[in-house]
Amino acid sequence: MLFGRTTLSKFVIEHTRGQHSDMGALLIDVAAAVKGISALVGKGALSGFSGSAATTNVQGEEQKKIDVLANEAILRHCEWGGQLAGMASEEMDEPCPIPESYPRGRYLLVFDPLDGSSNSDVNVSVGTIFSILQRPQAGDATLADFLRPGAEQVAAGYAIYGPATMLVLSVRTGTHAFTLDRESGNFILTHPDIRVPEATREFAINTSNERFWEPPVQRYVAECKAGKTGVRGADFNMRWIASMVAEVHRILMRGGIFMYPKDSKDPSKPGRLRLLYEANPMAMLIEQAGGAASTGRERILDVAPEALHQRVPVILGSREEVERLERYHQEFD
Ligand code: AHG
Ligand code: MN
Ligand code: MN
Ligand code: MN
Repeated sequence: MLFGRTTLSKFVIEHTRGQHSDMGALLIDVAAAVKGISALVGKGALSGFSGSAATTNVQGEEQKKIDVLANEAILRHCEWGGQLAGMASEEMDEPCPIPESYPRGRYLLVFDPLDGSSNSDVNVSVGTIFSILQRPQAGDATLADFLRPGAEQVAAGYAIYGPATMLVLSVRTGTHAFTLDRESGNFILTHPDIRVPEATREFAINTSNERFWEPPVQRYVAECKAGKTGVRGADFNMRWIASMVAEVHRILMRGGIFMYPKDSKDPSKPGRLRLLYEANPMAMLIEQAGGAASTGRERILDVAPEALHQRVPVILGSREEVERLERYHQEFD
């Protein structure tokens, strides 16, 4: 029976009492946006919003109609409540100010409205990723307010639109997952205090980029592929969904390691994934669940951002494997 179980609203109110009591309302608005996106994504081709929007975002990626709609859903659900100083997203060149008619707060919401959007037209899981930062007092956010290391995030989370829609959240009190009960419209706490197993025999990386990787990553993956007879003495399994949200979700549920490392494919890009709205929130969720998140050379949450859409190498998941990769980088450098 669902009655008596912990809803997302109850959880956020209880877990943000005191210093961040005004963040609860913001998280509930984020959840409302996520429910709207979930309903839209769940309609598939019937929504009439499949395919390209025929526009590109600031990073030169083709925008899907659904990228643009999901971005709009989050802006409209979250701009009015008086908790925010500003918002920024993968799909907007510059930070988006709070409209004149609404009060300002001290939080900054940074998001990837639709992660894995190349999967949206083929009915594979996609998601929404978000990060919440704060400035010292209420007002209009400046660019500098957004360029804070991930260690300063006050909350982070993602929604996964899969067979079930789930919201995974950390307000710095562990990592907890909620499942959307489609009949009641409530997110119900189903996975409290997730722990990532320290060891794993499962890795995720886009191996089509192998020739562009640095030697430490080539070495690590070669050792995994060598199986029982190689130096690792074990057979490894591999997965690649091309939705970071789905990979991180699998790792939170059963362990594993995810890599989108530095490569030489495009020397102007130090990695594929974006620091502020992909790497940082996922790193916080993984660390809060006992895992580790690194660029290979430094803790992701310690990277000092220099630009809103900055990219960064990402290696995250089960602690022992992330530490092994850091060792391989040290030995190489
Ligand atoms: P987005 O759809 O938000 O632009 O992000 C896609 C990201 C991430 O979800 C995934 O891990 C990666 O791109 C997949 O990249 P490849 O297509 O290079 O495998
Ligand atoms: Mn994109
Ligand atoms: Mn993404
Ligand atoms: Mn995206």
